[in-house]
Amino acid sequence: MTPACEWFRLLHSNLTVPTILAGMCRRWRSAQKVYSKWHVARRKLPPRLNKRRPTPRILPANDPKLLQHNLSSLIRLGVTDDAPPRQPLPDSMDYGDPNLSWHYHLFAYLSTQPKYAKPGTQILEIGTFEGEFTRFLSRCFPQGHIHTFDLPSDNPIFLESYGRHENLDSHLRERATNLEFTNVTFYARNSSEIPSVLGDASFDLIWVDGDHHDPQVSIDIDNCIQLMNTNSLMLVDDIVMFDLRSKLESIDSFLKLQRLETLGILKNWYFLKRTAVDRTPTKWIAVSELAANAT
Ligand SMILES: C[S@@+](CC[C@H](N)C(=O)[O-])C[C@H]1O[C@@H](n2cnc3c(N)ncnc32)[C@H](O)[C@@H]1O
Repeated sequence: MTPACEWFRLLHSNLTVPTILAGMCRRWRSAQKVYSKWHVARRKLPPRLNKRRPTPRILPANDPKLLQHNLSSLIRLGVTDDAPPRQPLPDSMDYGDPNLSWHYHLFAYLSTQPKYAKPGTQILEIGTFEGEFTRFLSRCFPQGHIHTFDLPSDNPIFLESYGRHENLDSHLRERATNLEFTNVTFYARNSSEIPSVLGDASFDLIWVDGDHHDPQVSIDIDNCIQLMNTNSLMLVDDIVMFDLRSKLESIDSFLKLQRLETLGILKNWYFLKRTAVDRTPTKWIAVSELAANAT
């Protein structure tokens, strides 16, 4: 067995306190170098591969404050009637359901406003899908007219999205049933063609809910601005405010709207799409008016 004095000598020859500290410092510095190289490399990754994204805001459970945010935004927007919307919803939907997307609430509220409840109100929808919301619009604005665009049914993007290649016939049948109202015109056209199809028409309310990625969503927003008048509101669905690009969502519409606000072209208001808990990512619905008319 090593005598105690031998242990003492060994400790003092090789492993003195200063050598231990120096060793720790060397390891710390090399760990820092490795971390900074990883950090730089990570930042160079394209967004899709860059897994570390800003954390989406986690919303508290069905928080009345969220509802209050939307209600007070309505009042700031000039919709003064804070009673629940009176328009009947499609079956099995309920305005009090915190999972119901607020585009139903918003258009129902707007349909109570004299500005939009009048005969001849023109509404444009980009993204008809099954026509359920078009049908709702048609009921909310019985004196208005709804023009709704979706891709032709032989378009590969149309077929590949929402599993429509598997149930094309039933999808088209359901859409046709929902659209059979005299105040609805359906266009099986790419929304890029709106300027050539609609010419210099003007719309009071515009619902942008087609492709949520650039370049298309920016083209849609630019085209719709050309169709706005002094009373018009443009509503854009599925806004996410952080760097996300998934199959059906992206930050692109938010960046576009923010740029247009900075340029003094639009004034934007943001409503929470849903007031429920655990809805990640947190999504918003933008309501925009021409900046020149903003109050
Ligand atoms: C999210 S769904 C619309 C949902 C519907 N507006 C609602 O509120 O229930 C999106 C629709 O936009 C359509 N779409 C995608 N890109 C388009 C484009 N460039 N032109 C026209 N429609 C497009 C898709 O085919 C799809 O039916």
